[in-house]
Amino acid sequence: MSADLSLYQTLRKYAAGDVYPCHMPGHKRNPEGGEMAGFFGIDITEIEGFDNLHHAEGILREAQERANRLYGADETFFLVNGSTAGILAAVMAAARPGEEILIARNCHRSVYHAALMQDLKVHYYRPKMIQEYDICDGVSAEEIGRLLDDHPAIKAVVITSPTYEGIISDVAKIAAAVHDRDKILIVDEAHGAHLDPHMGGAVAAGADLVIHSLHKTLPSLTQTALLHVNGGRVNRDRLHGYLAMVQSSSPSYILMAGMDACVRFLEKEGKERFAFFREQRENFLKKTENLRYLAIGKMTDLSENEYALLDWDMGKILISVKDAGMTGKQLSDMLRDDYHMELEMAAATYGLALMTWMDTAEGWQRLADALLLIDDRIEKERSGQTRRLIKAAKEGMLQESGPAGEWPQGTARAAAGLPRTVMTLAQAFHSEHEEILIKEAADRISADFINLYPPGIPLAVPGEKLTKMLLDHIVENVRKGFTVQGLSAAGKVSVVVEIPEKIWHY
Ligand SMILES: Cc1ncc(COP(=O)(O)O)c(C=O)c1O
Repeated sequence: MSADLSLYQTLRKYAAGDVYPCHMPGHKRNPEGGEMAGFFGIDITEIEGFDNLHHAEGILREAQERANRLYGADETFFLVNGSTAGILAAVMAAARPGEEILIARNCHRSVYHAALMQDLKVHYYRPKMIQEYDICDGVSAEEIGRLLDDHPAIKAVVITSPTYEGIISDVAKIAAAVHDRDKILIVDEAHGAHLDPHMGGAVAAGADLVIHSLHKTLPSLTQTALLHVNGGRVNRDRLHGYLAMVQSSSPSYILMAGMDACVRFLEKEGKERFAFFREQRENFLKKTENLRYLAIGKMTDLSENEYALLDWDMGKILISVKDAGMTGKQLSDMLRDDYHMELEMAAATYGLALMTWMDTAEGWQRLADALLLIDDRIEKERSGQTRRLIKAAKEGMLQESGPAGEWPQGTARAAAGLPRTVMTLAQAFHSEHEEILIKEAADRISADFINLYPPGIPLAVPGEKLTKMLLDHIVENVRKGFTVQGLSAAGKVSVVVEIPEKIWHY
């Protein structure tokens, strides 16, 4: 690739030439190949001159090196199967089959999948709750140090920072605690690819392996992600080996051109876009500072409590509905139906908007306007209710109404107080299963993952004893209209039939 041509431009140039493809893909770049034919021109395979992602020596190596320069790691790999692939390879490279690992319990399910595939013995760090917003706190370096001292056989630590809701941990401090004990730190920074180049994220903080979903917060195509490696603690041969196993042997050039374009865009326009984003966000916060019932989550509102978090990602706008008399799902439905705005996620007590450097001034304005209008609607509804109540009281019509409804627990609350691990993930997953009704599953051992989606953090993983509290929480979420994976339409969950004699005892 000529230095001034991007991968995309190189593909376009090739498509404009006269080389006839006697090779895959089967669409043969023929524009008569159906609705998607417009994309065929640059959808090539590893032909001469286009390198091979699994042994990159040419244009793909250059593109990965460019990404590496931007992020400042020792080595950077393109991922075409999302952060999921990077997490699988990172965890498997850091801990060999049967070894021990420490996982923050609010990690994405791909971390558990890696632990299952490698039959790892998992110890958990259970994040505390940020009570004000029902979300998981950051990870405490001191607590990680203590857990590593208690379990010296642990090989690696996996944390998520920022979390789905944007909570950023003090990765530099955690890296120091982990490295002091000569262990590997993996940071799932899938939601923080925008942090490193301009604000400093987990790569700059010295984590050994960092995974970034470019597609989540930057202008890049879905499935595009990066894996960064720092230092000499990770065995690079094993890492390369696992990457070859978890990534397609036919990686999409469209996706790879997308990653190259994203990196070039950040190099060229990153600072400017970031400044625009900051300005828009500040305007938004000013416009919404007098909301009465809805509330925007802010670091400054947490000052009275002792939390472990270092920061809150500016791109995650948490809209708390705790004082609004509605659930996050109702807020999300209202925003969609009445204002044509789709949130990233809705939980019991909040809705979450994901805002990036690519949001327009109009987008920010529409979000602020919609929230202000909803807040006004709640005000009107409340004063109407008050008038009705006064009238009803005067007419002696009020009945005992019982205690005010308790707000259901958020995803993170359930993630913070989870059932006990009895078997390893692999032992439970590979044991004999049976499907039973969820109402009969208390005290049985889960044979599968039960995830509240989004964000895909498991409520239960194979090998954990299901508690009544957790099962009630799952049923409550289904009733509230949230999606629960791992629960069949008939209301059944998969549990282990018999506990084998030889299990690893926690
Ligand atoms: C914290 C976290 N890590 C990893 C992933 C997986 O990322 P990807 O969709 O890029 O595979 C997700 C996806 O939602 C996530 O939320």
